[in-house]
Amino acid sequence: MSAPASAAPSQDELKALVGRAALEHVVRGEIVGVGTGSTVNKFIDALATIKDEIKGAVSSSVASTERLRALGIEVFDSNAVDELAVYIDGADEIDGRGHMIKGGGAALTREKIVAAQSRRFVCIADASKRVEVLGAFPLPVEIIPMAARRLMRQFAALGGLAQVREKDGLPLVTDNGQHILDVTGLKIADPLAFESEVNQWPGVVTVGVFAHQKAQICLLATPEGVQTLRYD
Ligand code: 5RP
Repeated sequence: MSAPASAAPSQDELKALVGRAALEHVVRGEIVGVGTGSTVNKFIDALATIKDEIKGAVSSSVASTERLRALGIEVFDSNAVDELAVYIDGADEIDGRGHMIKGGGAALTREKIVAAQSRRFVCIADASKRVEVLGAFPLPVEIIPMAARRLMRQFAALGGLAQVREKDGLPLVTDNGQHILDVTGLKIADPLAFESEVNQWPGVVTVGVFAHQKAQICLLATPEGVQTLRYD
């Protein structure tokens, strides 16, 4: 009788796998940039196992800061650090050039800030996040609340439907005290141009396209193991 086939790993197991794999990219003796989300939570848990080998972290959200501190990892203010060797974060979508949609966890502004001060962005994701063209995932855009209606019309002119993200029946308030629009119906064929354009609309704090701050490496968790994709 043949042995029973082992069940395919769950998405949660894939996230844990890639969270552990990211430890290989953490530069020992330095401060590491840490993103936000359920995949990053697995990375933070793994990071705690080598906490004595790093100086600490710069965090991209209140949630990640709390998790890092609870595990005994020192969290530095981003202004206390000139440059980080590496930033490790998840993504909602990633294309074949390392361009991403991010912000499903509403932390996109601080994520972009920490990514910008890092020499290398290592994206950790499960295979469901890999796409040919960005845009199937609703694009998060952090905005100043008084600009919401006009920005919704501007997205409508691009063929997108923008909705204010809610939590418990009220607009979600980000760590920066602002709101999020989630925009469906977009196909973002030129992420660099799209990011540049939307970023300069008055009232936009941060658009969740990460093309200027793209990933140099993606660790992609698949049922067959972790693939390393390079975009240098
Ligand atoms: C948070 C993010 C996350 O990286 C993104 O939403 C992916 O999250 P998860 O790992 O939970 O799927 O951009 O703002």
